[in-house]
Amino acid sequence: DNSMTLFEAVGGEPTFRKLVDEFYAGVATDPLLRPMYPEEDLGPAADRFALFLMQYWGGPNTYSVQRGHPRLRMRHAPFRIGAAERDAWLRHMRRAVDRLDLPPEIAGALWDYLERAAHFMVNAPEDP
Ligand code: HEM
Repeated sequence: DNSMTLFEAVGGEPTFRKLVDEFYAGVATDPLLRPMYPEEDLGPAADRFALFLMQYWGGPNTYSVQRGHPRLRMRHAPFRIGAAERDAWLRHMRRAVDRLDLPPEIAGALWDYLERAAHFMVNAPEDP
């Protein structure tokens, strides 16, 4: 069914929760990324990220009800994101996407978006 949202096609909220949980399990052990997260508990950050992704892919708009317009580049401005941070982020995300065992076409659409979004979030030049 072409009218199905990707949110529905992947199995809705449980799939996004699983994706984000896997991703944050990686972040929790990452020496570059973990110190960037201001809170001791990664749970609230994981929740915001899951809600954002669900909304982006056609699920409920709870993210914007709670947080307003995403303005993701602005919200990332306090963090120094260079190529190394982006690549570490993408490495954990790649692993998390793979663990979902989605049909290749759907996994591909999800990954293309995440990869583009991660490049878009870079806000710091590399050290010379
Ligand atoms: C928030 C890091 C890319 C979506 C955050 C936070 C950090 C962070 C440290 C603050 C945690 C919190 O308190 O919520 C990074 C790094 C990235 C990256 C290092 C590397 C490229 C992305 C991408 C997306 C994204 C590509 C979207 C596809 C979000 C969302 C929030 C967030 C939705 C919560 C915003 C809010 O406050 O409502 N990120 N991020 N991030 N990030 Fe990222």
